[in-house]
Amino acid sequence: MAIERTLSIIKPDATARNLTGAINVLIERAGLRIVAQKRVRWSKPLAEKFYEVHKARPFYGDLVAFMTSGPIVVQVLEGENAVKAYRDVMGATDPAKAAAGTIRKAFAENIERNSVHGSDSVENAATEIALNFRPDEIVG
Ligand code: CMP
Repeated sequence: MAIERTLSIIKPDATARNLTGAINVLIERAGLRIVAQKRVRWSKPLAEKFYEVHKARPFYGDLVAFMTSGPIVVQVLEGENAVKAYRDVMGATDPAKAAAGTIRKAFAENIERNSVHGSDSVENAATEIALNFRPDEIVG
């Protein structure tokens, strides 16, 4: 087992409904430690860069507009196998397919407004964390 870090985002649909605390309860209950957290509003260029991998997808423009439409909470989570552990807590991208007890089952509105993001690999986590945090903002 390895101690990993992953990037989490509490998205605008969730901050608008005051769900930051409720989501953090599920994160911490899963054994993940929130070692950095800040509420920010992404610029359009940062959102475009963050989701660059989805640039060719039909939903890319809407996704960038949504992610810049209001405040988000960016977090670094740390723990055993944190990347997979957080993906398990988040549930499937489409809340209609998410398992009971997951964040997206409990809170997501639809496949785009799905309340949270989590990195999909350790490599991508490192890139995503570097895009959102200075090293001194992470206190493990
Ligand atoms: P996230 O885990 O942040 O990764 C990419 C995001 O794109 C995803 O969550 C959703 O918010 C969004 N997304 C993925 N698939 C679709 C889709 N089919 N239609 C609209 N938005 C999507």
